Amino acid sequence: MAEKTLFVCRECGYESRRWMGKCPGCGEWNTMDEDMSMDKKIASKVKKTAAAPEKLSEIKLSRGQRSASEIGELDRALGGGVVPGSVILIGGDPGIGKSTILMQAAKGLCRLGKVLYISGEESPGQIKLRADRMGVDSPDIYLLCETDIRAAEAYINKLAPSFVIADSVQTFTDDGISGSQGSVSQVRNACSVLTNAAKTQNIPVFIVGHVTKEGAIAGPKVLEHMVDTVLYFEGERLNNYRILRCVKNRFGSTDEIGVFEMTGAGLKEVPNPSAVFIGERTRQSGSAVVPVMEGTRTVLVEVQALVSKSYLPNPRRMAYGMDVNRLMMIIAVLEKKAGISFAARDVWVNAVGGVRISETSADLAAAAALVSSNIDVPIDPGAVVFGEIGLGGEIRRVSQAERRLAEAERLGFETCIMPRQKLAGERSISVRQAPLLKDCIKALFGPEARQ
Ligand code: TYD
Ligand code: MG
Repeated sequence: MAEKTLFVCRECGYESRRWMGKCPGCGEWNTMDEDMSMDKKIASKVKKTAAAPEKLSEIKLSRGQRSASEIGELDRALGGGVVPGSVILIGGDPGIGKSTILMQAAKGLCRLGKVLYISGEESPGQIKLRADRMGVDSPDIYLLCETDIRAAEAYINKLAPSFVIADSVQTFTDDGISGSQGSVSQVRNACSVLTNAAKTQNIPVFIVGHVTKEGAIAGPKVLEHMVDTVLYFEGERLNNYRILRCVKNRFGSTDEIGVFEMTGAGLKEVPNPSAVFIGERTRQSGSAVVPVMEGTRTVLVEVQALVSKSYLPNPRRMAYGMDVNRLMMIIAVLEKKAGISFAARDVWVNAVGGVRISETSADLAAAAALVSSNIDVPIDPGAVVFGEIGLGGEIRRVSQAERRLAEAERLGFETCIMPRQKLAGERSISVRQAPLLKDCIKALFGPEARQ
């Protein structure tokens, strides 16, 4: 039988039997690489599956304890610590702090056993320098600078560590696999060798994967399906705050985030992110505060808007940290249902601090910030708003309203404008419930909001 070749997009992992210039998955050009032949792949899979089927009811759980890395924010993002035998992929832009957080995790984990840090990127001297900077100096942390994944595997077997850190997956190669360093086939192979080590020896393995915008190396997306947990490190290089976001977790919830600040001595946890995200608020127009749920935690986020005269035939609608289509919908509802026009106006909306809002509960905050900027009237600094905007101009209920109110109250906010819904318990924050968008706008700005 003729060998079948598989082409895989190095950006998004899209697979195809034939080569294509443009990836249908992500729309990028020239990202399809040849992967190892499908026949070989299937053959290798069949060889490994030696286990016989078992009855589900008779399977005994050998669920071990989670190990805490002693970095509260990392443990939170992982769903409560590191699960034995789990494979954790940490993705992020180069220089965001992946090696830093893993060195800190090594410091916390080495109290439970040997930690093997395999680096294919840096020399022992460089790693030692970083470790010194963060005060990491334990005889239980072993360092291996190696790019040959098979040699690394041999050392994992020899040393039998309790934790493995592999930094980064794109630097490892295997002589038996075609493709250059960083190609889809090499990256996937390195990941599968490490996964195999994790599963057979029940060792948790952290794998670092660089996110690459352009260039010749495969991104962590092509590995997401092979690992148990995927964390992405986000943040602006120039801003010191970093968000560790869990996007896949076979052992916990996926909405959890961990918040860190990059300091001269490594990453510092930010246990109270609300105070950080709204800390630099000014009393200018175009700013609204919304309590959003990030996993099990409520975080206050400032949403800023700038509405200015447009000189373009098609005025701009730009959104940072929020979906631009959602922004256009909010603008349309404001125009149609509240009589506030944004024609011939450029619009920018930004969730401050590099936060990404995926919840619809922030709709009302975006609308409030837009109106505030449009009429240049600041919103009461003691007010928070939340609620989903419906196409009929109604404000729809959101979940966990009590917890959102509690967080706003804790940070000293005095009023909240929110949808009409039942609330349990008592609170001192004054609540104004409004069923329609135009009522909310009237409550925030008085009747002069129309322009
Ligand atoms: P690093 O963890 O090497 O990034 P990655 O592994 O994701 O590529 O972090 C690199 C950046 O972090 C670098 O710009 C320097 C900065 N940094 C600090 O500000 N403080 C520190 O203590 C450390 C170790 C790094
Ligand atoms: Mg690094």
